[in-house]
Amino acid sequence: MPDRRTFLRTLLGTTAALAVSGLWTAGCRREPADAATIAPSLRRDTPTGPTRTVRLRAEEIEVEVAPGHVYRTWGYNGAFPGPELRVREGEQLQVVVENHLPEPTTIHWHGVPVPNAMDGVPGLTQDPIAPGETFTYTFVAAPSGSYLYHSHVGLQLDRGLLGALIIEETTPHVSYDREYTLVLDDFLPGEPRPLTAATPGMRGRGMMGRGMMGGMMGVQVPPYAGSLVNGRLPEAAPVFEVRRGEWVRLRLLNPSGASTFRFAIDGHALLVTHADGRPVEPVRVDNLLIGMGERYDVIIEADNPGRWAIVAVPVEGTHPPARAVLHYRESRARGLPSGLPETLRGRPLDYSDLKCLEMLPAQRPDRSFDLLLSGGMMMNPRWAINGQAYPDAEPLEIARGERVRFRMVNHSMMLHPMHLHGHFFRVGDALKDTVLVPPHMGRVVFDFVADNPGRWFFHCHNLYHLESGMAREVRYRA
Ligand code: C2O
Ligand code: CU
Repeated sequence: MPDRRTFLRTLLGTTAALAVSGLWTAGCRREPADAATIAPSLRRDTPTGPTRTVRLRAEEIEVEVAPGHVYRTWGYNGAFPGPELRVREGEQLQVVVENHLPEPTTIHWHGVPVPNAMDGVPGLTQDPIAPGETFTYTFVAAPSGSYLYHSHVGLQLDRGLLGALIIEETTPHVSYDREYTLVLDDFLPGEPRPLTAATPGMRGRGMMGRGMMGGMMGVQVPPYAGSLVNGRLPEAAPVFEVRRGEWVRLRLLNPSGASTFRFAIDGHALLVTHADGRPVEPVRVDNLLIGMGERYDVIIEADNPGRWAIVAVPVEGTHPPARAVLHYRESRARGLPSGLPETLRGRPLDYSDLKCLEMLPAQRPDRSFDLLLSGGMMMNPRWAINGQAYPDAEPLEIARGERVRFRMVNHSMMLHPMHLHGHFFRVGDALKDTVLVPPHMGRVVFDFVADNPGRWFFHCHNLYHLESGMAREVRYRA
């Protein structure tokens, strides 16, 4: 590996990089790809810090997504997105959830390998919290990373029962001057309803979305009215202030119901430093695709004063992009920069660019599963895995200590962000918990170590696919 200074210079391609040669502060801890060892677990059962107690009230709220544009929906503590929960790595997190909704609910700590009983999946890991009832989730906040929390009951997520969970590192591998969280979401003005073949006006503009190919529906998206950054439509676009010369960390989170976004910032490259919370060797790109449930941390160098567009363009469906503003204090410009950033057409992030800095599980499985993802066709509208739609589906049985491989192939025309609860998996040289399987015969393989016994959910994070059955239980044999 080149010395840090050379490395950064190539990475950024600018002399400015020299001024911040301290940006990457930690060395590479990655094992060779063919290591025969089993990676040590990132889970932690015993806290190394104090207990942090938080109360979350699930309730009906009024949300102002744009000036004068108020609607009633559901959220946490009167806010949408819910309050950002921020703790230090190793603390004991105790979240008291009060259900003031007219329906049962739960909360899932998306990405955190919590003990099974704290995972928030109704019918699998707990009984849902009845209206008027309270439930306390307790788990160790580890490992560090950008995570999400959200309801795991029905289509509640698409009403706004979601928020960011940030577990701060004790020693980040990158340094920066300030940070912001960007929650990217789609905006559904009404009550979410399952999509069916009969749902009128809900066909997307996918290649075969017009029913031309003998009754294929292809791409189906709910009637979203727009896209949001931190709960705001472009008319009320959030403004992120920076000063020239700063390095700014952005935590990009996608808890949306059914939108994969292409994300870019005009005039700025993105230095990707974390994927699904796991640290990676910083890699410089112009834009990235972020699926439902995925998270990326990026650092941008504020070296291009002005007022720039931050956009997240949905890649399925026809709803307009989410917009925010990157504003330099030095700049006098006002208003919302229009148009789409040049960087959208630049170099995209590919999963193969991600090189994890933590130990990866060996790619020598003890057990493999072939999983065929299908659905969305007129003859076969249900979203399914190997033809079975959850809950009418067999569990995938594994045993503690095994190295497990999932091989997925996508026979449909939509993207599927596949998410495994309770574990990180290895995809290429990255450690993730959610991975996009591309449409039209796209293939993804991942490996994980069975180190967290219980009954775990594995499913597509497109909420409407999940609701229609694209899920399986991953069960440890007793
Ligand atoms: Cu974020 Cu089972 O999901
Ligand atoms: Cu899906």
